[in-house]
Amino acid sequence: MALSDDVHVPCTGKMHRSLPLLQRLALFSLVVLFFLHTCCYGDVGTAARYAPPYLPTTCYGSDTSEFPSSNLFAASGEGIWDNGAACGRQYLVRCISASLRHACALNQTIQIKIVDYIQGLPSPPSARNTTMILSSKAFGAIANLTTNSPAINIEFQQ
Ligand SMILES: *[C@@H]1O[C@H](CO)[C@@H](O)[C@H](O)[C@H]1NC(C)=O
Ligand SMILES: *[C@@H]1O[C@H](CO)[C@@H](O)[C@H](O)[C@H]1NC(C)=O
Ligand SMILES: *[C@@H]1O[C@H](CO)[C@@H](O)[C@H](O)[C@H]1NC(C)=O
Repeated sequence: MALSDDVHVPCTGKMHRSLPLLQRLALFSLVVLFFLHTCCYGDVGTAARYAPPYLPTTCYGSDTSEFPSSNLFAASGEGIWDNGAACGRQYLVRCISASLRHACALNQTIQIKIVDYIQGLPSPPSARNTTMILSSKAFGAIANLTTNSPAINIEFQQ
């Protein structure tokens, strides 16, 4: 262990060099932890949108009480459906890129709830085969609607 050896050397010059090294290591660890927890934890996928009517849903039928009052909800695509276990799951979602310029609203993260399934949606999604299909309100919160982009690339995290 070179670090502890350095600390026991009586030469103060060496000690002064070893302390900043420890501090740098500590700082480096903190930065790594910070990024693991805040930046890069999510999965990457795609999102389309759909408009009313939203009922009935595969998860809850005609029960409107399961819709979040924020109107930030989504239908699950095939990839995260998990045989129906996706119903009720909440995800943090943000737009990371899109094929059309300016299509992402930067720095916007929303929390959505899964209330439906891509198969049998009561209204058609704006794009096929996406990870999830966001409600109009949810899509508009993280994307620039004036670009009319049918789909965006997202980062999402449960
Ligand atoms: C939204 O998209 C329009 C059309 O591409 C663009 O002119 C506008 O600058 C965009 N707005 C933002 C906030 O990016
Ligand atoms: C987004 O966040 C970054 C870093 O936090 C900041 O530099 C940038 O100005 C923000 N952009 C907008 C459009 O708020
Ligand atoms: C959906 O996308 C996946 C990969 O993203 C692909 O493997 C699959 O064939 C696609 N399914 C349909 C029906 O397009």
